Amino acid sequence: MITLQDLRKVYPTRSGEVVALDGISLEIPQGQIHGIVGQSGAGKSTLIRCLTALERPTTGSVIVDGAEVSALSEAMLRQARRRIGMVFQHVNLFEARTAAANIAYPLAIAGVPRAQRATRVQELLDLVGLGDRGDAYPAQLSGGQKQRVGIARALATEPAVLLCDEPTSALDSTTTRQILRLIRDVRDRLGITVVIITHETAVVREVCDAATLLADGRIVESGPLADVVTRPGSPLSQALVPVPDVGVGDQRALVQVSAGGAQTQIAHAMHAIATEPDAHVVAGAIETLGGVRVGRWHLDVADGDRVAVLGRLRAAGLAIEDDAA
Ligand SMILES: Nc1ncnc2c1ncn2[C@@H]1O[C@H](COP(=O)(O)OP(=O)(O)OP(=O)(O)O)[C@@H](O)[C@H]1O
Ligand SMILES: [Mg+2]
Repeated sequence: MITLQDLRKVYPTRSGEVVALDGISLEIPQGQIHGIVGQSGAGKSTLIRCLTALERPTTGSVIVDGAEVSALSEAMLRQARRRIGMVFQHVNLFEARTAAANIAYPLAIAGVPRAQRATRVQELLDLVGLGDRGDAYPAQLSGGQKQRVGIARALATEPAVLLCDEPTSALDSTTTRQILRLIRDVRDRLGITVVIITHETAVVREVCDAATLLADGRIVESGPLADVVTRPGSPLSQALVPVPDVGVGDQRALVQVSAGGAQTQIAHAMHAIATEPDAHVVAGAIETLGGVRVGRWHLDVADGDRVAVLGRLRAAGLAIEDDAA
């Protein structure tokens, strides 16, 4: 549904070239909710701008919904953009127009006759849970409700792909969860492909099926969460299920171990740790990610028995991630 092939974007600046994307190849299947995470400057916004063809790649190709957007003429591009919905952190609604009129706007641009517009707008309002608020002006809506209008507006032209750039960063945690649930619900009903750019790992944990970690314009790691969380030493997994920091001070030999799979596997791993006399837990975290349970623990392991202890834990199915030995 979305294919990126060896995508490179270089910005010429006065002080030299900035390589914002450096050989990105990525396949996002239809109906997937895919999170793009990475630190500030990693290239997330550049990537989303290339997907909408607001930015032309320096080299490489971008194929969205069967069309190579990197090669389309301006006229073809306007057509193709209708198949791409955008949701932003700041919704930017027309303040002087009602919610319904805001949602109708892209329909008018697309040439949908007035009579059909009203029906479609009501369907969209219903879809985002604002069925009875179509007459409200933006100033009369909460932040979460405004984002719902933004999502309805993005879906108006029946896009195949929904691109979300920090869709919940301006919202509190309860509203964030509601909006993410709405995005998932929309995907389930419409089968739309969703890309979410976010600096919040909680967003990925909550809603994404798969994720890509970017750093310095390159992919560090990518994959379905269910696979990622069981990869030993996975940077994405560590970012998504961080173990609370422990002071190194008097800890002799900290070891990071992890387990992933069904709840019984986590229980089995915890039993192995608990019954290991020469290791004890100093910190730990357990989460559900992409339908898979994942546990991660920092253990303090007695120095002399290190090899034997780690061997026993490994035999019990635990991945040893951070073996200082
Ligand atoms: N128009 C531009 N001209 C020159 N350099 C740019 C331009 N846009 C982005 N860059 C550079 O490209 C790199 C990637 O920027 P980008 O905005 O994609 O990062 P980001 O991951 O979205 O960061 P943030 O989380 O801060 O939004 C950065 O080094 C940035 O300075
Ligand atoms: Mg950005």
